[in-house]
Amino acid sequence: MMTIAVLGAGKIGESLLSGLLQAGYAPSQLMFTERYTQRASELEHQYGVDHTDVVSAARHADVLIIAVKPQDIEPLLDELCPYVAPSKLVVSLCAGLPTAMFEQRLAAGTPVVRVMPNTPMLVGEAMSVVSGGTCAQETHLDLAEELLGCVGSVVRVPESQQDVVTALSGSGPAYFFYLIESMIDAGVLLGLPRAVAGRLIVQTAVGSAAMLREGEGHPTIMREGVSSPGGTTVAGIRELEKHGVRAALIDAVEAAHDRSVELGRVHEDGEPGE
Ligand SMILES: NC(=O)c1ccc[n+]([C@@H]2O[C@H](COP(=O)([O-])OP(=O)(O)OC[C@H]3O[C@@H](n4cnc5c(N)ncnc54)[C@H](OP(=O)(O)O)[C@@H]3O)[C@@H](O)[C@H]2O)c1
Repeated sequence: MMTIAVLGAGKIGESLLSGLLQAGYAPSQLMFTERYTQRASELEHQYGVDHTDVVSAARHADVLIIAVKPQDIEPLLDELCPYVAPSKLVVSLCAGLPTAMFEQRLAAGTPVVRVMPNTPMLVGEAMSVVSGGTCAQETHLDLAEELLGCVGSVVRVPESQQDVVTALSGSGPAYFFYLIESMIDAGVLLGLPRAVAGRLIVQTAVGSAAMLREGEGHPTIMREGVSSPGGTTVAGIRELEKHGVRAALIDAVEAAHDRSVELGRVHEDGEPGE
């Protein structure tokens, strides 16, 4: 039976463990590493999954999922790499770290899959985007997709597109939170209690997203569908256009992309950075 080790059981690592268990993986197939013993004991107690050390994980697990912060990657790789056989699959969830950086440290031929997840993984609604390194075969990508599929949706792109992914789905939750925050403020300005405005807007966001996800139509058609002639919605849309909100969003995503490219230059020589 395939065994999976989650290295670094922080927010993302714990969400993944929880999602894998909910999807039917047995606790005996899973293990995790964690620096703080108290947190490790709490997780063992909560999920019934064994805490282990990095070397045992490298020796015994078939799939090694790295979920430490990028700035913690160096000491982890120092400990891990000497014990990882090329038959193992290494899946990195570390934002911005290229597969080449792992390949340079691991035994030749070790398959590496890079994943850019996002915060909604915490509620099982992640958008995870996977890219294979030079030694990752179709079966490795399929397996990574299956595992990440336990905590949301998964899309596969060439690694060269990961900076766009970072700007769109990686940073995306922050942009939606910002929009929602602004709409709640508008409700408060117009006299609604904040809690009521919050409830209205959050459910409106969830409902709108559900319609989009269920393929009710193109967003433009759906927006036109709620904009009656001479009505309230179109009056609001005119203000959004007047204030350049569409252009501002495009600029925001472009700025996030450019920053991702800039941060990525640090790793071009295979060294980890911020
Ligand atoms: N959170 C997000 O929305 C998000 C989105 C996209 C990508 N990611 C990526 O997901 C990864 C995890 O993020 P996170 O938010 O879950 O971070 P986090 O909460 O800080 O979790 C990382 C965990 O790894 C532990 N750790 C660090 N070095 C270790 C080692 N050598 N051995 C064992 N455990 C170790 C940390 O312990 P300590 O508490 O001792 O530091 C911490 O518990 C990051 O690489 C991040 O780039 C996160």
